[in-house]
Amino acid sequence: MDGPSGTGKSTVSRRLAVACDAAYLDTGAMYRALTLAVLRAGLDGEAPGSTEVALDAVAAVRSVTDPRAPALLLGDEDVEPEIRGPQVTRAVSAVSALAEVRAALVERQRQLIATAVDESGGIVVEGRDIGSVVVPDAPLKVYLTASDEIRAARRAAQDRKAGRDSDPGTVLADVRRRDRLDSTRKVSPLHAASDALVLDTDGLSVDAVLERLLELVAERG
Ligand code: C5P
Repeated sequence: MDGPSGTGKSTVSRRLAVACDAAYLDTGAMYRALTLAVLRAGLDGEAPGSTEVALDAVAAVRSVTDPRAPALLLGDEDVEPEIRGPQVTRAVSAVSALAEVRAALVERQRQLIATAVDESGGIVVEGRDIGSVVVPDAPLKVYLTASDEIRAARRAAQDRKAGRDSDPGTVLADVRRRDRLDSTRKVSPLHAASDALVLDTDGLSVDAVLERLLELVAERG
């Protein structure tokens, strides 16, 4: 499941995993955890030294792939909800554009995915480059889209629900800024894999998206 932020990717990916009795991996949370480590070192993703700090953190990132209780640990520390806060959100695109960091994290993701498939029989993986880079032979690739305004409204609602301050104008600007950075970076830019099914979620409820996804899963056997 790929696509920009605010498309409902996380919600539908988790629910799809539960419905299919599969594991679930949020790769965005992994980039966010690396970003937190970089910020804690007093860096920002662009400053020299950011790559080294982020690479050290790759070894410490642990993803719990149970869709009913997903979690992201840095060492033994549960770093939710800190990784969802504005500082991490501002810096994450810079960290995720670091080529060596991506290479190391993608390797980690592939190992996790292989283990989860062995243990659970399947996995729903969400991110920006899953169909295009991480798992190019995935049996089903979906790219979720929605208009900027709808995505910003969803993000703002999510922030408010989590008790974070949220100004719709600022969220819209942030959504656009991250889209631009994520889709223009040199390494693994955000784009739909050529064999991905593109699903526009404007005007679709989470239930409707999930229903469509379950049909697609059933079609692939
Ligand atoms: O999905 P989420 O909004 O939490 O992702 C945070 C950021 O992590 C994205 O804006 C993008 O910069 C980066 N990311 C990525 N590749 C992925 C997942 C996320 O570059 N597979």
